[in-house]
This record gives sequence, structure tokens and C-alpha cells, in this order.
Amino acid sequence: MVDRAIASDGRFSVALSGGSTPRGAYSLLATPEVVPRVDWDQVHIFWGDERCLPPDNSDSNYYMARDTLLDHVPIPEENVHRIQCELGPVLAAEEYDRVLREFFNLSPHDRNTYPRFDLVLLGMGADGHTASLFPGTTAIYERERLVVADYVQRLNGWRVSLTPPVINAAAQVMFLVSGLRKSEMLRQVLTGPHRPDIMPAQVVKPVQGCLSWLIDAQAADQDLRRMSGWSTT
Ligand code: 6PG
Repeated sequence: MVDRAIASDGRFSVALSGGSTPRGAYSLLATPEVVPRVDWDQVHIFWGDERCLPPDNSDSNYYMARDTLLDHVPIPEENVHRIQCELGPVLAAEEYDRVLREFFNLSPHDRNTYPRFDLVLLGMGADGHTASLFPGTTAIYERERLVVADYVQRLNGWRVSLTPPVINAAAQVMFLVSGLRKSEMLRQVLTGPHRPDIMPAQVVKPVQGCLSWLIDAQAADQDLRRMSGWSTT
């Protein structure tokens, strides 16, 4: 995927997920077997969302990616486009919007064209959220802006997130979901009624891209496995 993207337009753009699930995948990318196989000069790292914390706070998604991946690969600093939450949530969202428009060569006033990431990695919470699109927040319904800042009541904190149209404009969207505690929600998201208001992960439907779910055996409960005939890791 990376080589193909670089071959087509000279670069590979990925929006990383936060949370704990992707830690293993990021660490794998930083192993001696994998690092030499990637043209890191052409890789551009973004985030699908960020908790509004300083970049050196171990709970920030940026910190987790630095710790597991970015500090261990030869990626140029200018290729790492973090969400600058120290500006405050609203200004951080505006600044990230500007960075995205500049990188993807979009007009500041264009409300109908979205950045097309080569890959957007997503997690899913047991409450059905993805990125920082949480149940009951207005971010789920955002169709114009690229980035929003939302106060998430249940977390008692601010989040900055890519919006659904940006996620759905990606060439490839990949969910990483693991753990028994998510199996019921996962089943509802994949086979239940379309209710993105309470299961925001359902809002992810790439317009012209591929959607993949990487699910471990615990998260893919028996019924889901039987219904889908999926093999699980
Ligand atoms: C975050 C993530 C979020 C995450 C899910 C799953 O900032 O928390 O971006 O969307 O992917 O909450 O988190 P876990 O992988 O820790 O279960």
C-alpha cells in the first residue's frame, strides 16, 4: 500500500489512531525487519484525533505514536503533522484544518472537497465511538469542516477530530478492534440498525475507498464469526 501510494504521487499520507490497540502495530512498524522497507522520507503522519493534552503527556495520541513508532524510524520531523492542542481546542482545530488544506492543496474556502488520505487508521471504543466522534456529539453530523473541536461530556474534556467526510474520503480506512469488551458493540455496529448517533463508528463509509476491519478473536464473538465466515487472528 505504502509503495503504491508513493509510486502514484510521491508520498504516503496516513492518519493514525490513538488509544491502546494500535500500539502493537506501531511498534511492529518500528522493528529492524520493517523499517528499511519503508521510504520514510515520503511518509507523512497525521492523526485522526487528539485528546487536548500537551504533546509530552503520556495520554496524548501524539505521545503514544512517538513512543511506539516515530522515535524509532528515520522520518523527517517536517513529515509529522501533529494536532497542536496546546493552542487550545478551537485554535488547534483551525490550525489543523489549515495544515490539511495546505498539504492536500485545498482552497481555504472550499467546502466540497476533502483531503484524501492514503490510509486512515481507526479504533473503536466499547461505546461505539471512533476517532473522537462520540455518541451524542455534533461532530458525528459535521459535513463541511475538515476538523472539529468537541467538548465530550462523558470524558469531561475536549477532543479534536477529523470529521466523517474526511475519514470517508480516504483511499483506505482500517479499523483495529480487539478485546471481548467490544464484541457486543462491534456486532451491533456491523449487523445492527443504522444508528450512528449512538454508534458513531457506523458513520464510516468510504465514498471511493476500501474499508477493512482487523479484529481479534475476542472482539469477533461466535455469532459474528459464524455470520461472516471471517477468519480471525
Ligand atoms: C482515542 C482514540 C480512540 C480510540 C478508541 C479505542 O483518542 O482514544 O483515537 O478513537 O481509537 O477509544 O481505544 P483503545 O484502542 O484504547 O480501546
